Amino acid sequence: MTNNGRIAIIDLGGQYCHLIARRLRDLATDSTIFPPSVRSEVLSHYAGLILSGGPQSVYDPDAVSIDERIPALDMPILGICYGHQLLAKLLGGEVGRRDGEYGLAQLRTSTLNSFLPPHGETSGAGPLFHGTPPAQRVWMSHSDAVCELPRELITLAGTDRCSCAAFAHCSKPLFGLQFHPEVAHTEFGEKILENFVRSICGIGEAEPAAGRVPALCERIRRAAAGKSVFFLVSGGVDSTVAFVLCAIALPKERVLGLYVDTGLMRQGETDELRANLGRLGLTDRVRIWDASEVFLKALETQIDPEDKRRVIGRLFVEIQSQALHQFGIDPDHWLLGQGTIYPDTIESGGDSGRAAVIKTHHNRCDEIRELIRQGKVIEPLTELYKDEVRELGRELGLSAHLTNRWPFPGPGLAIRCLCTLTPGGASAVSPEIAATIAHDGFDGVVLPLRSVGVQGDARTYRRVFALAQKDRELDYQKLGKLSSALCNDNIAVNRVALLIGGNRPLTDARIVPATITPERVELLRQADFIARSEIERANLADTVWQFPVVLAPITFQDGESIVLRPVNSVDGMTASFACLPSDLLLTISNNILALPGVDAVFLDVTNKPPATIEWE
Ligand code: XMP
Repeated sequence: MTNNGRIAIIDLGGQYCHLIARRLRDLATDSTIFPPSVRSEVLSHYAGLILSGGPQSVYDPDAVSIDERIPALDMPILGICYGHQLLAKLLGGEVGRRDGEYGLAQLRTSTLNSFLPPHGETSGAGPLFHGTPPAQRVWMSHSDAVCELPRELITLAGTDRCSCAAFAHCSKPLFGLQFHPEVAHTEFGEKILENFVRSICGIGEAEPAAGRVPALCERIRRAAAGKSVFFLVSGGVDSTVAFVLCAIALPKERVLGLYVDTGLMRQGETDELRANLGRLGLTDRVRIWDASEVFLKALETQIDPEDKRRVIGRLFVEIQSQALHQFGIDPDHWLLGQGTIYPDTIESGGDSGRAAVIKTHHNRCDEIRELIRQGKVIEPLTELYKDEVRELGRELGLSAHLTNRWPFPGPGLAIRCLCTLTPGGASAVSPEIAATIAHDGFDGVVLPLRSVGVQGDARTYRRVFALAQKDRELDYQKLGKLSSALCNDNIAVNRVALLIGGNRPLTDARIVPATITPERVELLRQADFIARSEIERANLADTVWQFPVVLAPITFQDGESIVLRPVNSVDGMTASFACLPSDLLLTISNNILALPGVDAVFLDVTNKPPATIEWE
């Protein structure tokens, strides 16, 4: 029987499962995502199968698994991360808890696999790695690993912390990869997937998709079906692109935008929105609603990041319905429009119930989920990632100024204004760690202040490792290695921050109780403005993907600390800390230190994973 030329993907609950389908789409290859319960006979006419990652351990009694007949199907199978471990286990291998490995790792492919046909002069590790070099940069997120392989499986590659980072079956097209070829940060990930799809599964290239705008507009018209759309706009690229699409797809009078000023926006945000709307000719289609007092009041008692996010999501829904009422709009004839993109959904736990909640995005709070269940929400971009939305914006003719804007999260500065009720001092690190970091010219402490991370496809909420160095020049390579090692070795921390401003001994650092107050938000807004202005002045704004600025209740005297978090990313799913010139950071830091109430400035030097981009 000929196969259908498509790839089947089994979703085992990983953060990047949908991203596999997106990468295949980039390779003009169609795919279908199935739940783990899919029966082997349903898959038999597919050209190949990919098993995604997932947050569990394959040896847990209630671990998610697949139909045990699947590995025996006469089709190529590629297991990724949890899928790699599951495939190895089903084929008779052993999986156990090993060292953590999060973010960047150096992969070395083996050349010993002479049984596998060599392809060209590159890695020699068989068809999966064809055209890739023997040493390559990959992105990892695991603490379990395959520790023993059955005889018919052969190790193709390893890293310093993972001896079996890739395997192949000696006679069947079965492969496993501990790293994630689907994420943008894996250097040759796309090539590896292309090898799997083209030379291993034998799928030719499908017709490249035509421009997206007509298809999306058609979908909006069908989804709106006679109703109008009341759109929550923030001025950011996602909601603007989604709003413009609705305004093109539907008669103008059926689309109205609502911009809620939460009081948690960056400096000048509302003015910039007005200017952008003017340029788009949509000024008369958007109402501005000042809800800053309501938001700040409701947040005054919220400490926990997830509580903050839930409160903010609920307030957006409440304000939207108040606005409907005030504008005399009949709620039964209007849908709520949002610029939700796929990462918002998956980080909020996805729709399948298998993925972990990393953080509840404001547009995925319970109230919105309920409205979705009732069919009252329209979200044209839910299948897309940030880079695809930017591309769509360009297709729509939006200005580069708008499409290239740094992402700004819906909950705004609230999730960058860290809160705690528990005071605490810095903890000294173990003598071994102290000796290791001293060797690299650093000293360090662990601070009892927690931030969100994503490790092994699950949420972590761990402490911060603070570093200080004598040199003014930043050696980013050294910092990157140290940061990875500290988070990989130490399950108590998921983030590393380097003190760059305020000459204090780290041992003096203390965490002080802090809540959201208008004064703290204003201080953060000013620090954020300084960072943005300086990087724009240096003409370097386009060299970073996003630049959160965080207010942390880390005190040395009587003020707090500001953390700079410039990152590079493609889609926000993985990120690396950005390496800005030391001089620019020093200028930013000095200007921020001049603000009353700031004791110190830190630079976050953590990748995603192990940390997320935002601290909360
Ligand atoms: P993290 O912090 O999870 O964020 O690495 C990935 C990207 O998502 C943005 N983000 C949000 N965007 N509503 C949004 O619209 C939210 O609730 C939210 N939380 C995080 C974050 O700024 C980054 O670009």
